Amino acid sequence: MTEKEKREVVETTEAQIAVHWQEEGYVNPSGKFVAQANMTDDTIYERFSLDNFPNCFKEYADLLDWYEYWHTTLDTSDAPCWKWFAGGKINASYNCIDRHLAKNKNKTAIHFVPELESEKVEHVTYQELFVRVNEFAALLRDFAGLKRGDRVTLHLPMTAELPITMLACARLGVIHSEVFGGFSGNACADRIVDSQSRVLITMDAYYRGGKLIDHKEKADTAVGKAEEDGQKVDKVLVWQRYPGKYSADTPMVEGRDYFVNDLLKDYYGVRVEPERMNAEDPLFLMYTSGTTGKPKGCQHSTGGYLAYVTGTSKYVQDIHPEDVYWCMADIGWITGHSYIVYGPLALCASSVIYEGIPTYPDPGRCWRIAQDLDINIFHTAPTAIRALRKVGPDEPAKYNYHFKHMTTVGEPIEPEVWKWYYEVVGKKEAIIVDTWWQTETGGFLCSTLPAITPMKPGSAGPGMPGIHPVILDDDGNPIPTGSGKAGNICIQNPWPGGFQTIWGDRDRFVRQYYERYCKDPKSKDWRDWPYLAGDAAVQAEDGYYRILGRIDDVINVSGHRLGTKEIESAALVVPEVVEAAVVPVKHDIKGIEPDLYVSLKPGVEGTEELAQKVSQTIVSEIGAIARPRKVWIVPDMPKTRSGKIMRRVLGAISNNADVGDVMTLANPEIVEAITKMVQEK
Ligand code: WT7
Repeated sequence: MTEKEKREVVETTEAQIAVHWQEEGYVNPSGKFVAQANMTDDTIYERFSLDNFPNCFKEYADLLDWYEYWHTTLDTSDAPCWKWFAGGKINASYNCIDRHLAKNKNKTAIHFVPELESEKVEHVTYQELFVRVNEFAALLRDFAGLKRGDRVTLHLPMTAELPITMLACARLGVIHSEVFGGFSGNACADRIVDSQSRVLITMDAYYRGGKLIDHKEKADTAVGKAEEDGQKVDKVLVWQRYPGKYSADTPMVEGRDYFVNDLLKDYYGVRVEPERMNAEDPLFLMYTSGTTGKPKGCQHSTGGYLAYVTGTSKYVQDIHPEDVYWCMADIGWITGHSYIVYGPLALCASSVIYEGIPTYPDPGRCWRIAQDLDINIFHTAPTAIRALRKVGPDEPAKYNYHFKHMTTVGEPIEPEVWKWYYEVVGKKEAIIVDTWWQTETGGFLCSTLPAITPMKPGSAGPGMPGIHPVILDDDGNPIPTGSGKAGNICIQNPWPGGFQTIWGDRDRFVRQYYERYCKDPKSKDWRDWPYLAGDAAVQAEDGYYRILGRIDDVINVSGHRLGTKEIESAALVVPEVVEAAVVPVKHDIKGIEPDLYVSLKPGVEGTEELAQKVSQTIVSEIGAIARPRKVWIVPDMPKTRSGKIMRRVLGAISNNADVGDVMTLANPEIVEAITKMVQEK
């Protein structure tokens, strides 16, 4: 393929269909917010300037308790696999639990809110968290035989048992890999195999949309498929949604499946000394979609990661120990790891975990939760804000809650949606931070600092202290600030929250994130390794960044990342399908939705049933979030003369946009046929 063709193949990106909003004016925080904020000193940007790099990050690391202090702030000897706080020894479970006990053992660490409103909220104090984490850690060590450095896969829904499991692993130095509960058994299997987990931790059932869903079923699929692919799971540990009662229909497998609540009885009262981990030992893996079919395991460190999420939770989320903080994300994504579990608990906050759908049983549910727990910090994604606004635009006013702070994350937010969030949800009292970051980055990259830099609807804000973004064009030249031109946003320097590598695939890590703009692959100087985020962005005159969307084959559906290749490979599992192409389409609530084009084996008829089967297969291979808007069965794909599918053309058709010049295609006539088919629907 020529360079030009290569570019054409990936040309239908989110960035291309991004809406170009007007530049908005500033909105300032209230004096009341500023008066109580954790960070009001604007010299922080100076303290974290490139001149003070990397030592500036000591300020974040000092928010933690270390067994041994580090000797080297940033070790670049294995560039670009950076080692932060080398020589330091630390335990994440200790920092999120034990160190709070002396003063705050009686404080709620986790408020678990069941989806059914008739069920009581469970308030887990720091002392109770300590006991439960210790007992479960003892079980993992003595019954499951897990030890420092082992990987274990978690496929847990949103209940208190999820952070308990994570923190028990962290206590032992066992690397957890939580798979989003909504993912299919097959998707879970891929992650078990890649991480070589021999233990799977799951739950029998959970509530979603008022129904108790059998979740254990997925464990059976996962273990079966993992074994086919060469990874044997010898123990499945099953938490019970209702302790002592089995809520799934799927039978337990003798000698493989065990109820955690039965086993725990043997560990009552046991305490486990936290492992003294090296700062650079991995804490967890978080799989995310990439440009090839296989999800990649982003490996996050213990010391650097924990320092970064704690610092950003304190200064951007403005978390104080007396705050009640609710991040509506699922812990199965990085947002939940960093900003439900590790950051807030390291700061001794009370963190809310809600089991179900935000609008169940009615559009007021979220605001009742906020009112009843007296939540004052709220964190969610534009997709949820759009949905809440659609079903209940006037609901927030009916409830007596007051937020001081709100976050938006995961995708660009339309200024109009921002304003509803600000005026109606936040009641004009709460500040908003629009935080731009990624699974790979561990924590925020761009955001305003709530008491220092003013808000601007639709813009993420400047780089975080110590994060120095630059927008590069295709040739690697910086695009000047305020030029109005978009380019590839990169970060010029490493930071402690950044992932260390892709689990088991260092080459892919280097290739995907660093190769494009690295001038000397042998260099040990961090200045030679700009990090390529994979997003298009523009920078306004004032230094604020507006993120436009992905530049690669990744699409962002409701703030969740999906690889187009991943969906296409799932479609190809259906034997009748010979070619598949996914393109992003604009959607009112989800932001972006995948549209799927398939062509069939000669002689096979393109029926509605077959389209359904393709759609179903994607759900069972990946999960419901990947379900396409529509499966279009086409007689042929638009192709270049060298036979590559022109996704750009399909993307334009799906979005009712101009297809541009198609005369150089091998089969220009097909474009009209497909356009007719799609636009007539
Ligand atoms: C991609 C990362 C960050 C945790 C949740 C998603 C998009 C993220 C924003 C934002 C515009 C955003 C980017 C990024 N994104 N935050 N505030 N404004 N776009 O993590 O699944 O790794 O996805 O989400 O495209 O690359 P993720």
